[in-house]
Amino acid sequence: MVAAMRGLDSHDELICLRAGGQPQAGAEPVLPPIVQASLFRHARTADLLDGLAHESRRTVYSRGTNPGVRALETSLAALERADDCRCFGSGMAAIAATLFAVLDSGDHILFAGDIYGPTLQLATQLERFGITHSQVFPEGETALDTIETALTPATRLIFVESPGTMLFGLLPLEAIARLAHSRNILTAIDNTVATPLLQKPITLGFDIVLHSCSKYIGGHSDVIGGAVMASEDLVRRIFERGYMLLGCIQAPLDAFLLTRGLMTLPARLKQHQADGETLARALADHPRVRRVFHPALNDGSADLFQRQMRGHSGLFSIEIDAPDFDRVCACLDRLKLFGRAVSWGGVESLVIPAGRADGRDPRRPFNLVRLSVGLEGPDRLLDDLDQALGQ
Ligand SMILES: Cc1ncc(COP(=O)(O)O)c(C=O)c1O
Repeated sequence: MVAAMRGLDSHDELICLRAGGQPQAGAEPVLPPIVQASLFRHARTADLLDGLAHESRRTVYSRGTNPGVRALETSLAALERADDCRCFGSGMAAIAATLFAVLDSGDHILFAGDIYGPTLQLATQLERFGITHSQVFPEGETALDTIETALTPATRLIFVESPGTMLFGLLPLEAIARLAHSRNILTAIDNTVATPLLQKPITLGFDIVLHSCSKYIGGHSDVIGGAVMASEDLVRRIFERGYMLLGCIQAPLDAFLLTRGLMTLPARLKQHQADGETLARALADHPRVRRVFHPALNDGSADLFQRQMRGHSGLFSIEIDAPDFDRVCACLDRLKLFGRAVSWGGVESLVIPAGRADGRDPRRPFNLVRLSVGLEGPDRLLDDLDQALGQ
């Protein structure tokens, strides 16, 4: 069995607590101001022109830089150990702007592992602009070989999710980054599932880290947001080619909500993590549960879990014992505490059928169900699952 999680980095906990603002001399607000202004006046024309020449750093127009949004970006960059960060109106906006900024016609993206569906749909749209993609599902000892074999001379970007969407499989991030750099290929990871607290891909050699902030970072199911973190050069390129031109920015009020969420992320995540693991272990022994997909319970990736993660959140999947998809839905309908909804990462527990009703994807059978464990308490949640599964 996989050893216990490592706990959070205490420095990270302080970064989150201080996301609202650093203590300074005199009386300062404990949260960054919401600067609800679309533009910024300058005392002299020369200052305006100077601001326009350095718009990624200077407040000129809020489609570029806004002080409240910048406060969130600074905290997220610190947590991911990145030079810089830009926040977007959604996770998909961050992914879209990044692909738009780093790829050219003729390039190929290699997706490795289980990837969030809309990211793949976006890649399909990019085919109209001469950008191709393929996907592999690397596993175990041969994971790196699977990736290496799938590279083409046109591969410009390896894009991964680890833990992967729905099945939470892990990939050898350090080895992937080494391979990519030896071929002059960029690496990007959607780190949403791990949050910046449980995995830091930049320290493992990855170039670009993406997040949907709509999940644990916001944490209260009341805001949509996204972020990209990388080196100064890459973030500047994404800012100039993607952020400013696509206009999919993070609004000041939403950035404020995300900053507020970030301040309690360590406390919430510890609870999500502990309760999620308690539930996953109980369900692994449940007579009506066939399989549990949770990194802490997967002996096959125990080494990777120890090396590259500090733990796992409250998100995992199970295969339930049901003869068909209708019976899976009926089981979910019996749940009283778990809500039936998309998304995850809030204080309320949620479920969603994660399998394909038509049975056409062997990786995602009809009886696969994803759970997002909220903060209601594991005993209560287990009672709810027990009565719905029918023991
Ligand atoms: C792993 C992952 N990445 C990206 C996204 C997209 O984020 P958003 O909904 O904020 O656009 C999601 C949303 O569910 C997700 O689960």
